[in-house]
Amino acid sequence: MEIIIQPSKQAASITAARVVARLVREKPRAVLGLATGSTPLPLYHELIRMHQEEGLDFSEVTSFNLDEYVGLEAKHEQSYHSFMWQNFFRHINIDPDRVYIPDGMTTNVVASCATYERAIVDAGGIDLQILGIGSDGHIGFNEPTSSFASRTRIKTLTQETVVDNARFFDDDESQVPRHCITMGIGTIMDARSNIMLAFGDGKAEAIAAMVEGPVAAMVPASILQHHQNAKVFIDDCAASQLKLADYYRWVYAGKPEWQQDA
Ligand code: GLP
Repeated sequence: MEIIIQPSKQAASITAARVVARLVREKPRAVLGLATGSTPLPLYHELIRMHQEEGLDFSEVTSFNLDEYVGLEAKHEQSYHSFMWQNFFRHINIDPDRVYIPDGMTTNVVASCATYERAIVDAGGIDLQILGIGSDGHIGFNEPTSSFASRTRIKTLTQETVVDNARFFDDDESQVPRHCITMGIGTIMDARSNIMLAFGDGKAEAIAAMVEGPVAAMVPASILQHHQNAKVFIDDCAASQLKLADYYRWVYAGKPEWQQDA
C-alpha cells in the first residue's frame, strides 16, 4: 500500500484526481469503479473541472459503482443512482450506456448480482476502483466479517452504518434502508488498482486499523494490504493515528516527479 498524506482533503483529492486523469488519458476506454459518500465529492469536483477546462474525455469510459441501497428507486433522492448523476455523471461526457450501478429494485437479486459481475468481466475488468471507508472499516457496503472472497451480493448494513448514513435521510435512522447490494471484496480485489480516500478525525481509527493493523475480516479494508496496487489518499486528520505517518510522508516527498501520478 502506498500512503499519501496531504494537508487537506482538497489537496489529497486533487492528487488522486491526477491519477484517475492520467489513466483516462492513457486509456480512453478505461473501466472505472466508482464510490459514493461525501468522501469522493472533491475528487469528482476536480475531475469535472478537468473535463470542463482541460477537455478530459470520458466518452469511452465505462463505470461500475460499488453499491446501491435495496428498495430505493433509481430516482429516489438518496439512491446512489441519483447521487452519481447529481454529483458527477451529468457534469461530464460519459455515455449513459456505459454506466453501471447495482439495481436496488431488482426482484431477482441473485441473477441481478451475477449479471453485474459478468458485465464487469465483459468490460475487461476494472482498471481503477475508487473507495471510501466506513467508520467500521467497511469498503463498498462490505461490513465487518464479510468474506474476502465475496462477490456482488445483498448485504445487511450494520447499525453503525445506518446511524452514520442517517445524515443523508433527514437524520432519521428509520428511513435508511437496512439492505444493500454491494460489489464483494473479491470483486474489489480484482480491480487492477485501488484508490482509497479518507478525510477527517472520524476516519483516523479505521485508517490505522486498515493500514497498520492485522489483515482481518473485522476490518474489511485491511485486505488492501494484499493488493498489488493500492494507494491511500488521506488528510492529516485521517492520518493522525498512523504510527509510521512520518515515514509515509518521507517516502512520498522523495518520489520522483514522473511517478507522482502513476
Ligand atoms: C457508505 C458507502 C461507502 C462509503 C462510506 C463512507 O457506506 N457505501 O462506499 O465509503 O459510506 O461514507 P462517507 O464518505 O460519507 O464518510
